[in-house]
Amino acid sequence: MNERMKRILEEHGRRYGQGQDIRVFRAPGRVNLIGEHTDYNDGFVLPIAIDRDTTIAATPRKDGLIRLHALDFDETVVFDTHRMEPRINTGWGRYPYGVAAVLAREHVALRGCDGVVQGTVPIGAGLSSSASIEMATATMLCAFAETEIPGTRLARLCQMAENEYAGVNCGIMDPFISRLAQPHTALFIDCRSLDYTIIPFDAPDYALIVANTNRPRGLADSAYNERRRECEEGARLLGRHIENIRALRDVTPARFDAHRSVLPDIVARRCEHVIRENDRVMQSVETLIKRDFARLGALMNDSHDSLRDLYEVSCRELDTLVDIARRCDGVAGARMTGAGFGGCAIALVKIEAVETLETAIRREYPQITGYPADVYVCQPSGGAGEIV
Ligand code: GLA
Repeated sequence: MNERMKRILEEHGRRYGQGQDIRVFRAPGRVNLIGEHTDYNDGFVLPIAIDRDTTIAATPRKDGLIRLHALDFDETVVFDTHRMEPRINTGWGRYPYGVAAVLAREHVALRGCDGVVQGTVPIGAGLSSSASIEMATATMLCAFAETEIPGTRLARLCQMAENEYAGVNCGIMDPFISRLAQPHTALFIDCRSLDYTIIPFDAPDYALIVANTNRPRGLADSAYNERRRECEEGARLLGRHIENIRALRDVTPARFDAHRSVLPDIVARRCEHVIRENDRVMQSVETLIKRDFARLGALMNDSHDSLRDLYEVSCRELDTLVDIARRCDGVAGARMTGAGFGGCAIALVKIEAVETLETAIRREYPQITGYPADVYVCQPSGGAGEIV
């Protein structure tokens, strides 16, 4: 047993007494290789689950009370699933609360529990710490309720929890990958049909580096919701001229080029990003299958440039990380990952260049931006489940 697990179990014992029937659940965070801001446009994404997760150790209770203690914040939340009271709508507690509320609405026979929660996904860093706590909670609650919900449906329910209880109108990518990921692979997800294909991430000569800007994300949520509205507006306007447009997913690059002029400039730029990004995701799947990592890197670079210039969700700190990476020999490509406005960048880099890149980021990034640099090599991991 590793140190972390020991700490979690000890804390559980200290708070709730030695439970015989203690069970442990985990759900990972993610990076997205490519396909940014496409999920809520019914488009395509290509995420990877990372080797950082939220872990919950819990024992079931006979009543409906849920008591969860977060080791990282030294804070406990308590609510009663039979009445869903008191309502929790601030802090980390709103994530497990939201999931329980959505599952209760689905008529899952929730049981109470005493749990200790601990996370290794950095919070607010765009690596889906929220999806990981939601999915870890959902996995635990379903196990205690002895209810099996298919992974794609559970992802949808966690997305609803985030939309309704955390106020972010996010898409389905983060909970989806947190649940359905498999080790050493990426998932190619069609966010309309929810069909997905497991794509081996078979890159022994390359590493995937994650670098955190450490920049507070400020107004990220409201800007995210605004982008979403702009996309919906674009689909609506284009739908007046092109048949069968339900979402930007339905607009091909050629059609877009032909009708771009019907859109206000800002909306046109947002749409252009999404439409071409969908195309890049499909090309990226091919590159992974053919193991053409140089080409994948080039697509990642194009994706970042488009997010910076057309979708306008990058920021100076993300651009700085990406620039440092691109100047480094052995880097195939680099881009921001996740919603943007801060958070993390990823770089696909030859193994022998990893150290040079890490050193360059640690040296140059704080000097340029004033924020500390956090860099690590991430391993594509498996999805949520019970640790036995
Ligand atoms: C956030 C959201 C996702 C997705 C990305 C951008 O991570 O939670 O649903 O929209 O931003 O690709």
